[in-house]
Amino acid sequence: MPNRRLLSGLLLLALAGCGSDPFATLRPEGYPFPEGFVWGVATAAHQVEGGNDKNDWWAWEQRPGTIKHGHKSGDAVAFARVYAQDADLAKGLGQNAFRMSIEWSRIEPEKGKYDAAQIRYYHDVFAALRTRGLRPFVTLFHFTLPLWAAAQGGWESQETIRDFERFAAFCAREYGADVDHWATFNEPNVYANFGYMAGTWPPGRKDDIPAFLRVMANEMVAHGKAIKALRAGDTVDAGSGTACRAGLVTHVIVIDPVSAWNPVAALAASIEDQVFNMAIIESLRTGRFAVNVPGLGQIDVSDPDLAGSADYLGINYYRREIAEGINVHATLPGVPRNDLGWEIYPDGMYRWLDRLRQTNLPLYVTENGAPDAKDAFRPRYIVQHLMRVWQAIAAGAPVKGYFYWALTDNFEWAEGYEGRFGLYRVDFERSNTSRIETQSARVYRQIATANRLSADLIREYGR
Ligand code: FCB
Repeated sequence: MPNRRLLSGLLLLALAGCGSDPFATLRPEGYPFPEGFVWGVATAAHQVEGGNDKNDWWAWEQRPGTIKHGHKSGDAVAFARVYAQDADLAKGLGQNAFRMSIEWSRIEPEKGKYDAAQIRYYHDVFAALRTRGLRPFVTLFHFTLPLWAAAQGGWESQETIRDFERFAAFCAREYGADVDHWATFNEPNVYANFGYMAGTWPPGRKDDIPAFLRVMANEMVAHGKAIKALRAGDTVDAGSGTACRAGLVTHVIVIDPVSAWNPVAALAASIEDQVFNMAIIESLRTGRFAVNVPGLGQIDVSDPDLAGSADYLGINYYRREIAEGINVHATLPGVPRNDLGWEIYPDGMYRWLDRLRQTNLPLYVTENGAPDAKDAFRPRYIVQHLMRVWQAIAAGAPVKGYFYWALTDNFEWAEGYEGRFGLYRVDFERSNTSRIETQSARVYRQIATANRLSADLIREYGR
């Protein structure tokens, strides 16, 4: 009676819950990540270094009303002075990689004039990381422009594209032997959205759809040119197995319609998904950045250097948003949220990594994290998101690494110092160099050191 045996087998499986949920019955040996998995923490220059007074963000912060509570980046968390101690902390967390960015305005404070001491400073930072076994993952543009580049029109200007290509060529030659993985841009979509639609970041333009689309297109063209420059200039294998490994980091949001039966919401969700998420990702393969939303705006830009311009794709995943209709930024009632009100939605991590198998690119989670001043829900956040990363890998997604945002609390752009993402809490009242270990840090350390999620951790935090 083979059929009956099959049926009862399936029934057993269903009862045990082993069908699709690999965590329903916990494996005593835990859930290992692939050998050589990259474990890191992420940072960005302007948010941690301090003293970046030659970029457009610094100027923006001086204007009243731009940043919550009137905060300014100021000395930030003094990374530029205490990077060696911070590298010690990262090493102590069992990490093997460190994500950071080079502040363009430090290297080239005036157009065409390079600052030797600042060039040296980044060599020193890279050396501090490498001697501690931390592979540098380095971003060239993480939201800040030198004042001179902003004055010439920022990413609306073709000149900035040419200058950025030159900057990338410089960094490739100067730092190629230090840098393991390059990223040209961090989140071209978020940058264009806040700067040209929301108006809450420099240059502070509101609802300027043509500029929003133009800026994203220009960023992607600049990305392609910078990749060409990195590939030509970085000829030393710094550990990644090939001379140059360079890609893009983009922000991905799960955008769901409030109900599958609401056609307006479904259409709005799919348009927003295409404009915000997919146009950038698709352009890396096709070389064409194209958006066409009838009645709203369109752009269609192709560049040969953009086609095939990523050796890997980095995604920053934080949240889901709900399209209710025209409004695509709603949140469902009653869902768990972080301190900044973003929905906590671990399944989205699986959905994105699974979806991005279509790119055929190696994938890195280059940011994932939560602001949680009390460190109350964050250990669960980390475990639950990593369960979904594990599951995506088991399903065949080529995920090579994960970076938690961020090592320490830091300057969270327009939110000032309110968004507390740090595995190490900074007590700003006491000192911006204070570093206080959280339970989240201990949990992340345990996972990275063992290169696996243990059954115990999942029992404690995974449900
Ligand atoms: C991302 C940014 C990063 C940080 C986190 C919280 O969008 O890349 O700089 O602000 O959000």
